[in-house]
Amino acid sequence: MAKILVTGGAGYIGSHTCLELLNAGHDVIVLDNLSNSSEESLYRVQELSSKKLDFVQGDIRHDQDLDKVFNQYQIDAVIHFAGLKAVGESQQIPLTYFDNNIAGSINLTKAMERAGIFKLVFSSSATVYDEANISPLNENMPTGMPSNNYGYTKLIVEQLLEKMSEADPRWSIALLRYFNPVGAHKSGHIGEDPQGIPNNLMPYVTQVAVGRREKLSIYGNDYNTVDGTGVRDYIHVVDLANAHLCALNNRLINNGCRAWNIGTGNGSSVLEVKNAFEKVNGVSIAFEFAPRRSGDVAISFADSTRAKEELNWTAKFGLEDMLKDSWNWQKQNPDGYQK
Ligand code: NAD
Ligand code: UD1
Repeated sequence: MAKILVTGGAGYIGSHTCLELLNAGHDVIVLDNLSNSSEESLYRVQELSSKKLDFVQGDIRHDQDLDKVFNQYQIDAVIHFAGLKAVGESQQIPLTYFDNNIAGSINLTKAMERAGIFKLVFSSSATVYDEANISPLNENMPTGMPSNNYGYTKLIVEQLLEKMSEADPRWSIALLRYFNPVGAHKSGHIGEDPQGIPNNLMPYVTQVAVGRREKLSIYGNDYNTVDGTGVRDYIHVVDLANAHLCALNNRLINNGCRAWNIGTGNGSSVLEVKNAFEKVNGVSIAFEFAPRRSGDVAISFADSTRAKEELNWTAKFGLEDMLKDSWNWQKQNPDGYQK
């Protein structure tokens, strides 16, 4: 069993990953500045697992916070979730995104180097793929220039990590390219708790269902897809969390830098998601069609063969589970962690 530092561990994907790590018997230390999360998620993770984790409130941009953690604990590997992720905001305050996501990642890897730790799992995104690629997207396809600054930070960090590992064979880095994470732990005790108006489809749908928003705007119904609405590869957050454990096991015994897609391989349109949500959960979602959202592609879904073959990872949950679990979380926590 290993001692794992989880940066951004109080957030949506981080909290689910901490739970799976604890359940698998690992020791977990979370470093999070709580800029987009609350410590309540970690209390709940400990409750669900009946195990303790260590929480350090701190910032990946601050050397003293990182050195303190690396000096205090004999860390074996780092899973790095910490960063900012709001696409629209990244267009308005790019420097803040470059600072948190790029400078923060550089700072973290420098501190790891100082501490002699070279095993890292990084949260990347399918947004790094060139838009000209036709889905299913595989890891051999070219990356491109993402349509927004958030995506750009993911691409840059991937490239920096690749170059670091080319220069120094001690590094062992997993780049996990997430498709569209949704859902929540089946208990409904932890889940996604976005601040303000959600940018992403699933939290918007659940907030309409719970009465916090009036109606869903569907961005575009004239794409060349099954019903004109955008198609994405939704992946259950618990499957995604487990992909981190598989990547960790792989990185504990292999060196170099390698990318893996984490998706189900199935595409669902916005209308299919909305209709399935209504059917599975017995609630209705008011909606309107709105113009296309700038930067959106028509279709994006994964070829996850590499993750299956090399990490022994496959998604276990289907769309129905994702929709049920998202609703179960939102219903039990209409105002998120504020209760
Ligand atoms: P989240 O906002 O819920 O979690 C990120 C966590 O990082 C938060 O707890 C936040 O407080 C913390 N954080 C931010 N900046 C920090 C800093 N400088 N120092 C320390 N902590 C900091 O987001 P999430 O959905 O759990 O995403 C986790 C990671 O996965 C992010 O890097 C995100 O970009 C990436 N990702 C997310 C998605 C998605 O759809 N959710 C898709 C692809 C990639
Ligand atoms: C978005 C980001 C991507 C980021 C990912 C996870 C853009 C262009 N891409 O991906 O960089 O990695 O989130 O955070 O923003 N939709 C609606 N109405 C809504 C919300 C979404 O119709 O209110 C549609 C979108 O047009 C899209 C689908 O739902 O077709 C999924 O959208 P979303 O959940 O935002 O994810 P992505 O656009 O795939």
